[in-house]
Amino acid sequence: MPSSARSARPWPGIAPPGRRAGPAHDPPPRSGVHPVPLICFASPKGGVGKTTLCAAIAVLLRQQGHRVLALDCDPQNALRLHFGVPFDYEPGFMTGLAQGVGWREALVETASGVLLLPHGATDMRSALGLAQALDQAPALLTAPLQEMLADPALVVLADLPPGPSTALHLLAALAQTVLVILLADAASAALLPQLAAGSFFGRGTVAALRNARVQVVLNQVEAEDPLSTAVFDCADQTLGLGLVGAVARDRRIPRALAERQSLAAMPEESPALEDVRHLAGCLGAGLPAPRPAGAAEAGPCFQVAS
Ligand SMILES: Nc1ncnc2c1ncn2[C@@H]1O[C@H](COP(=O)(O)OP(=O)(O)OP(=O)(O)O)[C@@H](O)[C@H]1O
Ligand SMILES: [Mg+2]
Repeated sequence: MPSSARSARPWPGIAPPGRRAGPAHDPPPRSGVHPVPLICFASPKGGVGKTTLCAAIAVLLRQQGHRVLALDCDPQNALRLHFGVPFDYEPGFMTGLAQGVGWREALVETASGVLLLPHGATDMRSALGLAQALDQAPALLTAPLQEMLADPALVVLADLPPGPSTALHLLAALAQTVLVILLADAASAALLPQLAAGSFFGRGTVAALRNARVQVVLNQVEAEDPLSTAVFDCADQTLGLGLVGAVARDRRIPRALAERQSLAAMPEESPALEDVRHLAGCLGAGLPAPRPAGAAEAGPCFQVAS
């Protein structure tokens, strides 16, 4: 049985920071256009750690000195829970789109220093209505995104809902990287050939542009579990450079969420935190250098007390 995931972290199959800063499949060059610092956290599967990793990497990139905006595109409205935003705080960026609420008005400054755009509280009817509105008028979402990305010092991390979504379709066209999170289990392993073939977003020229930005992270890897290590080895062999990171399973992570803390803020050292730091190092290496402290920043409408 393959064994590359068995020894101590960093996972032997995963490259050191810097080597994997580029996308899995080099995108066709877009003359005069630099990749914008937008990273999407997506997956064909639900419950794989998209929100957890998005929140943790946002905090770690902020600690590296980047100005970071975490954008919740998932109607579950859960990203805010990783930043200590009160349960009863209902406003949000996505729910404000249809009412013409500006993105700056929806900004929340969190204790971590990460700027947060919560999705906003919604229900099924409103969420379906928003998806339809975005389908008919994509600029509702892409215009404010372009405004955010016009600031080269701002790194935007977007948490997407599981599976296909209008938001992912629109954001992937702008993103530098689409991080696809999978678990070290059989159902995730079954999706590896599709990802290796570069067909996550489908076929055709437009889909190929989006597919070129896909990189994969395997979450909840257990070094002592044969199934877990077999899936890790399979992913490493199937995806090659497309596998950008692996994160250990750690029971303290759900507990941290119960205390409304980001994984990055966990007080104890954990192998998972070490892995996520490694991943944040890879991603940070591909971003523009942080802006010096003191430069003008957009003001939030609401602050979360530390
Ligand atoms: N490395 C890990 N070890 C242990 N538990 C983890 C790990 N990563 C995430 N979890 C837990 O897995 C659960 C799902 O995580 P999360 O909500 O981030 O997934 P998701 O992909 O965003 O889900 P959804 O598809 O519903 O948006 C949470 O309880 C989280 O605490
Ligand atoms: Mg989520």
